[in-house]
Amino acid sequence: VKWTDQERSTVRAVWEQINIDEVGPEALARVLIVYPWTERYFGSLGELFTASAVLNNAKVAAHGRVVLRALDEAVKNMDNIEDTYAALSQLHYEKLHVDPDNFRLLADCITITVACKLRSAMGPQVQATWQKFLSAVVDALQSQYH
Ligand code: HEM
Repeated sequence: VKWTDQERSTVRAVWEQINIDEVGPEALARVLIVYPWTERYFGSLGELFTASAVLNNAKVAAHGRVVLRALDEAVKNMDNIEDTYAALSQLHYEKLHVDPDNFRLLADCITITVACKLRSAMGPQVQATWQKFLSAVVDALQSQYH
């Protein structure tokens, strides 16, 4: 993936405005509620049967923070996202057996959650650049699937 200087600074600017402790839990809860088949991978998180159970689940919140924190690595290594996530991709493939289609669903839930926070600061250009960034993340997480 090639990045212009403008795209790099846009991704960094969005990332700086993200509160990991809010966006992580909200984005993971959103994917579990909107795409409930994703719950099958998260037996370790306990009760997920209703939307309110998901939203009030402290383990969901904690794992959401773990996921969002991992994005920091991609922001810091925009030219090498694939290598940065090689081990994480392998883990999701070989050990967790996550269907790779789900990466895009979580990425979209992250975008929606971020847009709800940034509102007018996330205009069409910023959103397009942010989604280009998350697409690179999704591709990298799928890279070790074969
Ligand atoms: C674990 C990141 C998408 C399912 C993890 C871990 C990280 C992570 C950092 C912890 C790894 C470790 O303990 O070494 C991400 C990122 C994603 C993503 C950055 C996409 C943006 C998904 C999706 C699913 C999923 C879409 C399933 C629908 C899991 C599961 C675990 C895990 C089941 C293990 C949880 C546990 O500790 O029991 N992920 N993940 N991940 N991820 Fe992902």
